[in-house]
Amino acid sequence: MFFPFPFLLITLILAPSAYGAYNILFMCPFPAPSHWMFMEHFLAPLLQRGHHVTTLTNHPAKQRHPNLTEILIEPPLNLAYYHPKENMFKMQFSSDFENLHLYWETGLTSSEYALNQSKVKSLIASKDLHFDLVVLEQFFHESFLMFAHKFKCPVVTLGTLGYADNMDRAMGLLTPWSFVPHLFLSDINHMDFYQRAYNVYISLYDAFFRHWFYLPQMQAMAERHFGGVIEGPLPHVNELVQNISVMLINSHRSLDTPRPSMPGLVSVGGIHIKPVKPLPAELQRYLDSSTDGVIYFSLGTYIHSVDMPRGHIKILLDAFAQLKQNVLWKYENATIDAGLPPNVRISKWLPQNDIFAHANTKLIITQGGIFSTQEGVYWGIPLLFIPIFGDQHRNARKAVRAGYARSLHFDKLTSDDLVQNIQLLLNDPQYKQKALEASSRFRDNPVHPLEEATFWMEYVMRHSGAPHLKSRSAYMPLYQYLLLDVLGCTLLLVLLIILLIIVIVNVLKRCLAVRLKANEDSQKKQK
Ligand SMILES: *[C@@H]1O[C@H](CO)[C@@H](O)[C@H](O)[C@H]1NC(C)=O
Ligand SMILES: *[C@@H]1O[C@H](CO)[C@@H](O)[C@H](O)[C@H]1NC(C)=O
Ligand SMILES: *[C@@H]1O[C@H](CO)[C@@H](O)[C@H](O)[C@H]1NC(C)=O
Ligand SMILES: *[C@@H]1O[C@H](CO)[C@@H](O)[C@H](O)[C@H]1NC(C)=O
Repeated sequence: MFFPFPFLLITLILAPSAYGAYNILFMCPFPAPSHWMFMEHFLAPLLQRGHHVTTLTNHPAKQRHPNLTEILIEPPLNLAYYHPKENMFKMQFSSDFENLHLYWETGLTSSEYALNQSKVKSLIASKDLHFDLVVLEQFFHESFLMFAHKFKCPVVTLGTLGYADNMDRAMGLLTPWSFVPHLFLSDINHMDFYQRAYNVYISLYDAFFRHWFYLPQMQAMAERHFGGVIEGPLPHVNELVQNISVMLINSHRSLDTPRPSMPGLVSVGGIHIKPVKPLPAELQRYLDSSTDGVIYFSLGTYIHSVDMPRGHIKILLDAFAQLKQNVLWKYENATIDAGLPPNVRISKWLPQNDIFAHANTKLIITQGGIFSTQEGVYWGIPLLFIPIFGDQHRNARKAVRAGYARSLHFDKLTSDDLVQNIQLLLNDPQYKQKALEASSRFRDNPVHPLEEATFWMEYVMRHSGAPHLKSRSAYMPLYQYLLLDVLGCTLLLVLLIILLIIVIVNVLKRCLAVRLKANEDSQKKQK
């Protein structure tokens, strides 16, 4: 049942806030376009409801708004300089550990780069600004939480990639590793012994490096940029993480592992899926006339098809040429050197969501970024994954297990494999069936996730923070959380009692022995 939510959504969210206008500092220091495209969705309703928003981002707003102030990081950090895309195509990031380090390193690099900007320095040194809320991407930018300390205001974070153990910890939960997989793992419902052991290993590794290697660097960075500039001693970023009021997380009950939660952890998966807009007339004609169906192919906004090794482009074109369907390829150059088969059409930019909404779109070939994956699920279209780095491997494994997708190795790609997998996904009805089922579960929400997200941001401002949405256990030492003190005392008590019993028994035995001996002696004497 596909409910036409856009109409409902717009009437509810467009209404101005009944509680007055607030000032919000909205920060996304990470330069990857998809992260900002996700965060931008949270912005629109805030402005529509009359709040004043100051953004700190790498990407200018598409439209001006009188209540929107932009602090632009210019030029944006060139991530590819630190992590060359060739290395990504060489599959240097196929292991979970390499990806963990990739996240920490890019987080540190992009945070330092943004804090070093003169406009950001002026914001740190500003004297007359007031904010009611800091919104920050919950990625790898903890030093930015110092802005909440500076402006004495609460924080809401936006978790782009889904749940991570450290979010649980900040809200007062220890992630149960026996049944909740690590951020990078996809095992759902039941982990066997090996999977549980691996889950514990990678989760411990993550926690250890985060605590001893990553967070100390974030702290040093915060001290470098805020120390001496803002008044008073600086808190530790750890304390600031524990003080986050609400985390709005890109996760959905229908796609992700069930896990214990806290009121401050709110899943808002699906917020970025927009109401359909009309396609450009020419594209509309193209899709309408593709009666055999259209296959959509994109590697997302960060990795570009044009940077792919030449060999791979040839493999893809050879495969596409064998299909009767049309292929719409997001390719970031006006022409392809290798030449195009008649059924392939390239374009530097494509309105992905509106293309997915067209009935003739039959299959999506994707690198497996979380946003495209969720859009594919929303529109009920089978997916073919070719994951490259980060969470893409996890997204691919999950979708394959759920039955609406197949996955190929980028470094072992062949034309035959591609054609075979595409045919299977198009011709075996079970993939479409599963995709439609996943879609109807993904769309079935009590309120639209964007409306829920807006509610929580305003809620935190109305109440000047929401420490009541997390457990005191967030501040508890581990030995208390795990009840080691209580267990230890109980064990000690039990040991003491056992010891006491042994002593008493021994004493009684000895007394008895003395008595018996005395009795024997007296009997001997009588004889
Ligand atoms: C800007 O904010 C003020 C409240 O401070 C509000 O009255 C006004 O309608 C907002 N402007 C727009 C275009 O939303
Ligand atoms: C910080 O900015 C200065 C110029 O404003 C530049 O020389 C320096 O390299 C930058 N440092 C980093 C780590 O980006
Ligand atoms: C954490 O929040 C409390 C209020 O909820 C505040 O008193 C305290 O100063 C905050 N800690 C830091 C380090 O900002
Ligand atoms: C990109 O397009 C130009 C012409 O528009 C062409 O000369 C160049 O070879 C193309 N590059 C690639 C990688 O296809």
